[in-house]
Amino acid sequence: MPQLKAHLKINKNFCIEEKPGDTILVVFGASGDLTERKIIPALFNLYQKKLLPKKFFVLACARTKLDDISFRDQIKSSLMQTNYQGTQDVLTVFCNLFFYLSGDYHDPRTYADLSLLLDKTGKKNCNLLFYLATPPVVYDPIVENLGKAGLVKDCHEGIFYPRVVVEKPFGHDLSSALELNAKLRDILAERQIYRIDHYLGKETVQNILMFRFANTIFEPVWNRQYIDHVQITVAEDIGVGHRAGYYDKAGHLRDIFQNHMFEMMALVAMEPPASFEADRIRDQKTEFFRSIRPVQLTDIVRAQYKEGIIKNTVVPSYRQEQGVPPDSVTETFVAAKLWVDSWRWHDVPFFLKTGKRLAKGFSEIAIKFKHVPHSIFGPIHSVDMPSNELVFNVQPNEGIALTIQAKYPGPKLCMSTLTMDLFYKDVMETEMPSPYERLLIDCMLGDQTLFIRQDEIELEWGLVDPILKSWELEPSVRELKFYPAGSWGPAEADELIGSEGRCWHRQN
Ligand code: BG6
Repeated sequence: MPQLKAHLKINKNFCIEEKPGDTILVVFGASGDLTERKIIPALFNLYQKKLLPKKFFVLACARTKLDDISFRDQIKSSLMQTNYQGTQDVLTVFCNLFFYLSGDYHDPRTYADLSLLLDKTGKKNCNLLFYLATPPVVYDPIVENLGKAGLVKDCHEGIFYPRVVVEKPFGHDLSSALELNAKLRDILAERQIYRIDHYLGKETVQNILMFRFANTIFEPVWNRQYIDHVQITVAEDIGVGHRAGYYDKAGHLRDIFQNHMFEMMALVAMEPPASFEADRIRDQKTEFFRSIRPVQLTDIVRAQYKEGIIKNTVVPSYRQEQGVPPDSVTETFVAAKLWVDSWRWHDVPFFLKTGKRLAKGFSEIAIKFKHVPHSIFGPIHSVDMPSNELVFNVQPNEGIALTIQAKYPGPKLCMSTLTMDLFYKDVMETEMPSPYERLLIDCMLGDQTLFIRQDEIELEWGLVDPILKSWELEPSVRELKFYPAGSWGPAEADELIGSEGRCWHRQN
């Protein structure tokens, strides 16, 4: 494989990172999986990078009966199981930032205790962040009780005001999302609500806007005149793991398609915002969602994995996974063709594909350009020349790849396809921060750019809701296809894209 040498020049004047004001973070669901796997490691990284505010601590709240010391011991041993190479002292100082409060989320006494603790720790001139890392069923009682205890009053002035971070899943369908929004908005102003989609915190996803709007050469061709179609893929080789309880009720359309796929699609296809301000970007995303044509049921394939082989190991079918009913009809795969009714994208299909237990785990966005209009190269016809493509490799090999045609040295007419691959790990002289680091800092800063606004989430649900309803009501359209684990999905997904004369970008 030929090596491409990429050069990076960092302009320090263009590298702006603000340090947030003093913050107290209250984590509900502190003894849960999300806190252990994502929130605490991200906070620890921020601590090591000295990005946490001067005054910062965490009030960890959960039902489990623990005290400060035992909770700190738990965090310490969990962080030691990561590849932490530093000293015990650093770990101890970090863990001492945590205080533990056990209580029932429905019980007003929990919030009275919390309020007392917050007073004791000195909440004046501090951002108060309430992170709902709990199952969604308790979002409502927690926020209601926070409201009753007077802990989330928007002060309307100054930089310090309470904020609430809400994890995915945000609702189960359109009506539950509307209901949850209404309940939150009864108590909180929109500027206090941080709806998380962790894909937006990924560096490569954040890069889409900079790539499009900090360069002049791409935007002029970013339209139906030059782009033939767009493919967005979120492929996972992992199965449902130990999350069957949630996942079997949700299914893949809700789990990945309604949020991560739509958010990436919006960043790729929205109109240029007037500025990098949160609401200017979110305005454009919502406008884009309004222009997506309702999805035809014949343009969507739902499927479930059967037993198969991944990395030379036989893996069970979805129905054999722990906690999954043996007759489950939940989809673990979705492929769809979408159309966008706008001047920019008229007649340009967007193909979205996502599934669990596929051949490889990766996420990418492939922009497929049109063929050259006319070939001057005699026997080589324009349709036979591979068209240009630009791929955002979201993960795991983060980078950007541009494929062009070039002359191969030697024979006078020898055309070759050259891919210019730029991998972050080769050029960026820094580690990739986890999405949660970015998102947590932004919550502390009061920057909502990477969070989903109320109208945005409702529009996203509005697009998938008719599909979910039809699947519920009409068994014939719900028809589930099957694919072997370790494959690229069912044949019907290939037919879906094949019927438009295209094929999936990565199938090897
Ligand atoms: C989550 C889904 O939102 O995203 C999971 O609930 C999925 O099912 C995960 O595995 C994928 O995230 P990532 O960052 O690993 O691509």
